[in-house]
Amino acid sequence: MNQKEIDQINRGLMHFLDSSPNAFFAVANMKRELRENGCTELFEGDPWKLEAGKGYYVSRNDSALIAFRIPNSDFSGFQMMASHCDSPVFKVKPNAEITVENRYVKLNVERYGGMLCAPWLDRPLSVAGRLTVRAGNGIVTKCINIDRDLLVIPNLAIHMDRQVNEGHAYNAQVDMLPLLGDMEAKEQFMRLIAAEAGVREEDILDTDLYLYNREKATRIGLRGEFLASGRLDDLQCAFASLQGFLRAVPFRSVALHCVYDNEEVGSRTKQGAASTFLKDVLRRICAGFGKTEEEYLRLLASSFLVSADNAHAVHPNHGEKADPTNRPFLNGGIVIKYSANQSYTTDAVSGALFRLICERAEVPYQIFVNRSDMLGGSTLGNLSNTQVALNTADIGLPQLAMHSPYETGGTMDTAYLVKAAGVLFSSSLEGRGDGTYRLMP
Ligand code: CO
Repeated sequence: MNQKEIDQINRGLMHFLDSSPNAFFAVANMKRELRENGCTELFEGDPWKLEAGKGYYVSRNDSALIAFRIPNSDFSGFQMMASHCDSPVFKVKPNAEITVENRYVKLNVERYGGMLCAPWLDRPLSVAGRLTVRAGNGIVTKCINIDRDLLVIPNLAIHMDRQVNEGHAYNAQVDMLPLLGDMEAKEQFMRLIAAEAGVREEDILDTDLYLYNREKATRIGLRGEFLASGRLDDLQCAFASLQGFLRAVPFRSVALHCVYDNEEVGSRTKQGAASTFLKDVLRRICAGFGKTEEEYLRLLASSFLVSADNAHAVHPNHGEKADPTNRPFLNGGIVIKYSANQSYTTDAVSGALFRLICERAEVPYQIFVNRSDMLGGSTLGNLSNTQVALNTADIGLPQLAMHSPYETGGTMDTAYLVKAAGVLFSSSLEGRGDGTYRLMP
């Protein structure tokens, strides 16, 4: 891959990050790209007519998406990559306006997921999400993005909290409420949302509205070798998975690009990785080609799932926080994650299979293991396995400042995962479930 191609991939990634303030927008953007590349949209409530050689996509809750491509020949397995499109963020509560001393209007918000609080302060923020609007005797859903600098969560001055630099305990109900305006803003928040959606305020029945950081994605570093943005975890992997999917021609396996919602709150929702979404899609693909229950289970034995969720790079100021012998760095390649207690699913078989894929893609990989005295995060792989059990490897792209509203990653790493995903989606696993496998062709 030459520099021009790498720059092009990163331009695409930055556009995707900037235009995807939350999961609803990420899914809408992926759908558009799939449609532009000839894939057909399916709906869970419609019958599916599937054809060999064709690409399809289906969403659930407008916040999770599975795209798949059927090979031209009969298929013997599924080659899958899973990522997530939600990020830790503040959600706007119902009845959000709070008046302060008859001079300010602020918004009542609550935490979604575990974020770093401090970097949300003192920067322009806005609001995006979805509304459900009365329509006839039912509802329709609309996505809105107040696409301008709208809110700020102001810090307390150092003079009023002299110890702040020794560590501040952020109280989400006290410290993290964003300022909307002066008293002119009173009763205007929902009016603004209604106006943006082009609907009457009284027709809005409910909302899922989230804050987002207005700072755009940018390349930093002496040669622009790093990339900083909100939501790198996990839109960087979701983007790379999609680009690999669009470039691939499946070989004897169905290729599936899966992007889930709600990873940051445990994945246990109808659109999360622990749901039946993947299982339901796999069963419907099998049904579409007349496969029996036994054939479905046999297909799983020669399938592979790559759970792609960003990983921690060694921090330039805190090298001591990383494992002593496994040191992933930005632009050092795709990170394969291991955990003895299986919070990451990678084992000697799935790890070896993913290493083969990286070798075939000619991209570097590196290893992440938590320090033995540190509890790490969890991710998608083992939750997905409770519904669809198969060989799974947990991987990710190395990044810094995970769960900040402005994270830093490497520009080369995105390109590496695009290539590896391309190889995954163009290959097929031959095996019977006894630890002996061949990666074909
Ligand atoms: Co993640």
